[in-house]
Amino acid sequence: MSGLAEDADSGADSANGDICVVYDIGELVVGPSRNESDDTPLEIREDAALVAVDGEVVAVGSSDDVTREYPPEDAETTIDAEGRAVVPGFVDPHTHAVFAGDRSDEFEAKLRGKEYQEILAEGGGILRTVRAVREASDDQLVANLTGHLETMLAHGTTTVEVKSGYGLDTETELRQLEAIDCADAAQPVDLVATFMGAHAVPDDRGTDEYVDDVVEKQLPAVADQGIATFCDVFCEEGVFDVNQSRRVLEAGLEYGLTPKVHAEEFVRLGGAELAAELGAASADHLLHANGDDVDALVENGVVPVLLPGTAFGLGEDYADARAFLEAGAPVALATDFNPNCHSRSMEFVQTLGAVEMEMTPAEALLASTRNAALALGLEDGTGTLREGAPADAVVLEAPSFAHVAYRFDTSAVDAVLKRGEVVAK
Ligand code: NIG
Ligand code: FE
Repeated sequence: MSGLAEDADSGADSANGDICVVYDIGELVVGPSRNESDDTPLEIREDAALVAVDGEVVAVGSSDDVTREYPPEDAETTIDAEGRAVVPGFVDPHTHAVFAGDRSDEFEAKLRGKEYQEILAEGGGILRTVRAVREASDDQLVANLTGHLETMLAHGTTTVEVKSGYGLDTETELRQLEAIDCADAAQPVDLVATFMGAHAVPDDRGTDEYVDDVVEKQLPAVADQGIATFCDVFCEEGVFDVNQSRRVLEAGLEYGLTPKVHAEEFVRLGGAELAAELGAASADHLLHANGDDVDALVENGVVPVLLPGTAFGLGEDYADARAFLEAGAPVALATDFNPNCHSRSMEFVQTLGAVEMEMTPAEALLASTRNAALALGLEDGTGTLREGAPADAVVLEAPSFAHVAYRFDTSAVDAVLKRGEVVAK
C-alpha cells in the first residue's frame, strides 16, 4: 500500500511501548453512535488520526492535533492513510471453520433441488464432514483452519468465533477445540472457541442416547481442558428438539459455558425462545423467527446473529433484519463459514446485508464490528476504535466505509492492523 511505512523492527518489541500512528484518515469509524438522534448508527470523524500504544487505542482526534502530540516519525508503525477510510476490524461471530474434506458436489446437488436436511438425513452434510475430520490429523486440522484465517484476515476480519461439532465424540471434539487453540496462538486473528458437540446426531446413535454422551462425557472433558467459552446446539427439526437442546445448554451452563443457539433455521421450533429463557449470548440464523421471537430476544438481551451467506448459498429467504433493528436489537452479522456456506468474507456478508436484508451500509458495518463483539461477550471495546479498545483496524482503499458493502467484485481492504501492528496489506 502506498503511504505505509513500518520500521524494520516494528513488531519485534511490541510489548514495550510500541506506538502506532495512523494519520490523514479521511473518514474514521470510531464505533456506535453515542447520540440516538444521529441519522447514522456510527460515530464518524473526518480528517482524523488514531494512535495505539502497546496495541491499545490511546488517542483519536483531528489529524493535526493528534500528530502534534504523537509525531508519526517517532512511531514504530506509521500509516499515512492519504484521505482513505479506516474502520474497526471485523468480528465474525459464527463460523465452523475447523474442518476437512470437500462437499462441493453437495452444492451441485442442492442447485438441482436437493434439500440440505435430506442430504443430512442420508448421512451426508455435517455427517460427511465428521468422517473427514475424524480421519484428518491434528496438523491437517490446524493447517486447514490457519489457511482459512489468512483469507479472513485479508478481508479485514480480526476476531473469529470457531465452533467444534464435526467430531461428535469426545476425542474428536477435543481435537477440534485444540486445533482452534493452536491456530489462535499461531497467527494474528483472535479466536473464540465454542463447543458444539450437539451439532448433529451420529448415524449409529439415538438422539437421547447421544445427548447423554454430550452431557455426561463430552462436556466434562471440554470443561476440564478449559478450551471453550460457549456451548452451542443445532435446535432444529430432525436434529435436537427444544428439550434436548435445553439439556445440553443447561449442562454447559453448569460447566461455565455460555449458551448460543442455532435457532429457527429451517423451521420455527422454539430455539429463539429457549435462547431467551437461558439468557444465551446469541441466537443465530433466525430465518423463521416471528415477532414473538424478536421481542423475547430483545427483552432478554440476546444478540440476534444473522447469516445471510447461508440463505444466499441455499437459495432461502433471508432473516428479517429490519424487524430486529426496529425492535432495537443489536443485530450482528456473521459468515457462518462451513462446508455448506463457503464464504470467509465479512465484506460479502455486509454486501448481502445491504442488498438483501434492507440494512444500511452503516447498520451492516455496526453489525460486523461492535454488535458482533457483543455476540461473543467481548466488552473490552473490540469492534470499536474508542480509547481503550484493542487497536484492530482496517484501512480501506476507499474514501468511505460505505465501500465495504458497496463493492462486491474485489476486496475494499488495503491494510489490516491487529493490536497496532500491520498484519495484512
Ligand atoms: O450453521 N446449521 C447447522 N450448522 C451449520 C452447517 C454445518 C454444515 O452443513 O456443515 C450452519 O449452517
Ligand atoms: Fe452454524
